[in-house]
Amino acid sequence: MAFGFSNRGDQASRLRQLVCADLAPGGQAARGCHVVSILSGKGGVGKTLLATNLSIAMAARGHRVILFDMDMGLANADIVLGVQARGTWSEVLKGRRRLDDVVIDAPGGISFVPGSSGIAELADLSDFERHQLMAAMAQIESRYDVVVLDCGAGISRNVLSFAATGDTLLVVTTPEPTSLTDAYATIKVLPQFMSDRPGAAARMGGMGLVVNNAINRREAAEVYERISSVAARFLQVGVSDYGHILRDDYVAVAVRERAPVLLRYPRCPASGCIMAIATKLSRDIGQPQADQGLFYRFVNMFR
Ligand SMILES: Nc1ncnc2c1ncn2[C@@H]1O[C@H](COP(=O)(O)OP(=O)(O)OP(=O)(O)O)[C@@H](O)[C@H]1O
Ligand SMILES: [Mg+2]
Repeated sequence: MAFGFSNRGDQASRLRQLVCADLAPGGQAARGCHVVSILSGKGGVGKTLLATNLSIAMAARGHRVILFDMDMGLANADIVLGVQARGTWSEVLKGRRRLDDVVIDAPGGISFVPGSSGIAELADLSDFERHQLMAAMAQIESRYDVVVLDCGAGISRNVLSFAATGDTLLVVTTPEPTSLTDAYATIKVLPQFMSDRPGAAARMGGMGLVVNNAINRREAAEVYERISSVAARFLQVGVSDYGHILRDDYVAVAVRERAPVLLRYPRCPASGCIMAIATKLSRDIGQPQADQGLFYRFVNMFR
């Protein structure tokens, strides 16, 4: 493949070299645990593509990254990453497994928590489980700079609850009219949902759009312009431009090979786009955060 690295073992370090060239002088990893939620209205628009590869891109920039597969229906980030799940969150909550037993070292130097059954019941935690969750969240906060949440599709309470814990909330859409309509619906309900939750209202400014599967930069720009102008006019909501991912056959090839496209084909068009999104996201990392730690965010969302 023209875009690939011949030696798979060398992939992560080559990617780091690419990124170092991209970092501004003195552009080091910032401190503080920053939560990035990735959601969409319509399913199948590229959330998992973005969540997995953006996590790897952020790790390549020097951040300590943990990715959670929060999709309660069709969790499949493990397949895209080519890793095998060893356990779930609910086992950690029940005290049957330690966090370290469940977190997997994934390609590109990221940590990964597979399909998170059990988190939906956060409102009903026993005292013991609450304590377990608090301990796990404290561990995560001390160990990682960036927490990426691959949220499920749709606008169910679960999806919105996970998404609303984000400091940066990236809504993914494709140029298809059905996807645009659903992305708009998400942008409409998310601020309403967040304004009702303690602490979340302060993070509402962090909403951004990523246009996936665009045939060129112009198409992506037009999609962003349409969504952001309608959101500003009818919802009085600001949506930032976090970039786009071009339609690229190498994405499907990498999925078939069970490898993240960014590591397998770092020079293909989609990988270049994801690196550019990481550059934009990096500006958010280390910004002063408005509210509480991870534990309170999660628990408050499920009240
Ligand atoms: N930019 C792209 N170019 C080509 N194919 C793409 C692109 N983005 C996504 N795809 C293809 O679309 C499929 C769906 O992508 P992905 O699994 O990331 O979507 P999703 O939003 O996570 O879906 P779900 O809602 O089911 O979780 C993938 O199999 C992938 O190969
Ligand atoms: Mg997915």
